[in-house]
Amino acid sequence: MNYSKKTVKDIDVKGKKVLLRCDFNVPQDKKTGEITDDKRIRAALPTIQYLLEQGAAVIACSHLGKPVATFDSYVKKQVEKGKNAEDITKEEWEKSLKKLSLKIVAARLSELLGQPVIMAEDVVGADAQAKAAALKPGEIMLLENTRFEKGETKNDPATAKAMADMAEVYVSDAFGAVHRAHASTAGVADYLPAVSGFLIQKELEIIGGALANPKRPLVAILGGSKVSSKIGVINNLLEIADTIIIGGGMAYTFSAADGGKVGDSLLEADWMDYAKEMVAKAAAKGVKLLLPIDTVIANAFAPDAESKVVAAGEIPDGWQGLDIGPKTVELYCNAVQDAGTVIWNGPMGVFEFAAFAKGTEAVAEALSKTSAITIIGGGDSAAAVQQLGYADKMTHISTGGGASLEFMEGKVLPGVACLLDK
Ligand code: 3PG
Repeated sequence: MNYSKKTVKDIDVKGKKVLLRCDFNVPQDKKTGEITDDKRIRAALPTIQYLLEQGAAVIACSHLGKPVATFDSYVKKQVEKGKNAEDITKEEWEKSLKKLSLKIVAARLSELLGQPVIMAEDVVGADAQAKAAALKPGEIMLLENTRFEKGETKNDPATAKAMADMAEVYVSDAFGAVHRAHASTAGVADYLPAVSGFLIQKELEIIGGALANPKRPLVAILGGSKVSSKIGVINNLLEIADTIIIGGGMAYTFSAADGGKVGDSLLEADWMDYAKEMVAKAAAKGVKLLLPIDTVIANAFAPDAESKVVAAGEIPDGWQGLDIGPKTVELYCNAVQDAGTVIWNGPMGVFEFAAFAKGTEAVAEALSKTSAITIIGGGDSAAAVQQLGYADKMTHISTGGGASLEFMEGKVLPGVACLLDK
């Protein structure tokens, strides 16, 4: 696939202040706040190192989690969750923000780069501005969590301009956040020459290449709990793929649409007609649509629930499907073996419970053994592949969850659209 956007190599950054948007939205240990997986920080290193080597002064920025930027909105959110407005204190809100400070990322980034990372106390405030003004070529600083600014998620032009005013060039390498039209991911490009980093380029070339010109047969494995969140992807892949494999909770909506009994399994009744339509569309287009033929059911949604295997569509009341069954595993793994390209997004069952992780594990193993090009969408399937130790057996594991999904849906990504064309 021809990459159509300008990159850091197409612009002179020597001696320039470069605002670099990364996706440092890393998973953290709930208790200690420690970073549990630094893949996204590592993935940003090639662009950062290149910029520093070229003599740029790098002002890096990112969001982390979903902080609430004002106390009023925080109170509103907590009340929606059932709390009493009078019980909510400013200290509690400030504590919630502190947990999402990027200081921990600065420390990790500094270790990985082997040089200091100057941490700003704010995003566009006096501290950030002073530190940015004093930053020298070859130095790097990190702004605080962009979502601490209330204008960030609203893509407020004033916030975007304030960020842009600190720099002379904008580089985006935040692939995981390109589906967001926020001030730091898109708005800022209205005020600065905007180019992409190497990570965005790599993600778009690999995933885009697999969609535009795949080595066939192209097999797409789609899992996860809801049909409603995968509609766009299924629709788009029906135009491209040779085989679509459905697993995870959404399979039960397909089963119910076909007249199957799904017991207490996850079901999106409103999407049954859509599921039927997709089956018909696949048949009309000659796309093989594989659905589970058996399923592992449990008498409760719990890691130690009683479980057994039944045929798909024969789930008794009081039981729910939590994983694909052994015959389905065989069917799906065979489909993967003969593939030219496999794209996988979403687990096959309740992967977080060991007893119901077998389907997901088997698919991950099959992907690790196939000679096909294997592309793993971010989020749960990426986590599964990593946990199982198959990460280095895959062609590409995306750093984007929502972003890779929206890209596979064929949607315009605002964080890419705003970058200069070649
Ligand atoms: C992600 O983790 O998918 C990205 O960092 C985007 O985060 P968001 O869903 O909070 O916008």
